[in-house]
Amino acid sequence: MKNGLEDVVAAETQLSHVNGEAGELIIRGVSLDHLVGYASYEDVVALLVDGLVGTAPDRTELVRRLGQKRAEVFAHAGAIDDALLELPPVDIMRALIARLPDGDDLDTALRLLAAPAVFLTAALRLKRGESPVAPRPSLSHSADILAMLGAKVPMRQEVAALDAYLVTISDHGLNASTFASRVVASTKAGLTSSVLAAISALKGPLHGGAPGPVLDMLDAIETPENAETWLTRALDRGERLMGFGHRVYRVRDPRADALKGALRQLIAADPVNRDRIQLAEAVEQSALAILKARKPDRPLDVNVEFYTALLLDALKFPREAFTGVFAIGRTVGWVAHAREQALEGRLIRPRSIYVGPLPQQAA
Ligand code: ACO
Repeated sequence: MKNGLEDVVAAETQLSHVNGEAGELIIRGVSLDHLVGYASYEDVVALLVDGLVGTAPDRTELVRRLGQKRAEVFAHAGAIDDALLELPPVDIMRALIARLPDGDDLDTALRLLAAPAVFLTAALRLKRGESPVAPRPSLSHSADILAMLGAKVPMRQEVAALDAYLVTISDHGLNASTFASRVVASTKAGLTSSVLAAISALKGPLHGGAPGPVLDMLDAIETPENAETWLTRALDRGERLMGFGHRVYRVRDPRADALKGALRQLIAADPVNRDRIQLAEAVEQSALAILKARKPDRPLDVNVEFYTALLLDALKFPREAFTGVFAIGRTVGWVAHAREQALEGRLIRPRSIYVGPLPQQAA
């Protein structure tokens, strides 16, 4: 048995390929390097879902239809009551998505892409005592997310940075949440059920829950000079350094560099964030050196969550929302994988090895 199913091949997919030795990510035939900065979120939606929920609409039509869907699901934001508001943002998002109908068609898929953006931003505003901002259907998905969050039309650079983020994290092989999505899809339960399972898998700190703690770590370290001592003490306490290590990558996660590039463009003129990136680079260098010395046989490098934390912070998402923003971007991958599994796969039903006690034999 492979604990954690490491190296077990559980699906064939045409959607994405993670080359862990070379540090390369291919999304439906296109290298991540050729997507980030060139493709919009809507382009990647078309790329990933085409042929799986019928023929994908073109970019202009997708902007229009996603805008309509955001307006449609906004009605559910009224269901956020005091009890739901006590929950973390990603749990509020999940509760509202559970109200949506199940289905397998393009309409269901687009509703599921729209919903996390609308529900997360509404929850964040309500949590800080502000009214939710209604979607503006004519805006692109990224522009409207920022408009719903901040109640003003965002700057072009901010939209470009969020687009780069959503494109970068759109799909990533058979990670835990995508596998969860495929397991549910293999029972033919429908796309909404698959996405709900995937969000539940994503929220754990070993998967999509890491970027908030990355910022906590940077805040605690405060200055580059403190990095080595702070990191050494954390490892001595048996803690893991958030934003480092990956099940598949044995070299640098290519998504980290894509996000670092987007962050640099966004903060070119902002001294507050420039200090932050200098601190982050110092922490990264120090962590890599310490991890290498402590685990010489296990290559541990920076992962996507490290620069996600800085980028989303610069876009003024509160840190408790980072997992939810991840879900906004990854839903397209979950939907595409769920459809691929439902169309081409069989019921996923592995076996376990029983290691418990045997029944007592009669004397
Ligand atoms: N800090 C310190 N040590 C680490 C780290 C880390 N970030 N990651 C792995 N290690 C160590 C483990 O303690 C283990 O040491 P041991 O063999 O002495 O017990 C060894 O490296 C191997 O670790 P595993 O847990 O077997 O590696 P796995 O492939 O299961 O873990 C994971 C991958 C969960 C991402 C891990 O590296 C981790 O916990 N990282 C921190 C959390 C994080 O950044 N998560 C986001 C991942 S990216 C994503 O999901 C979108």
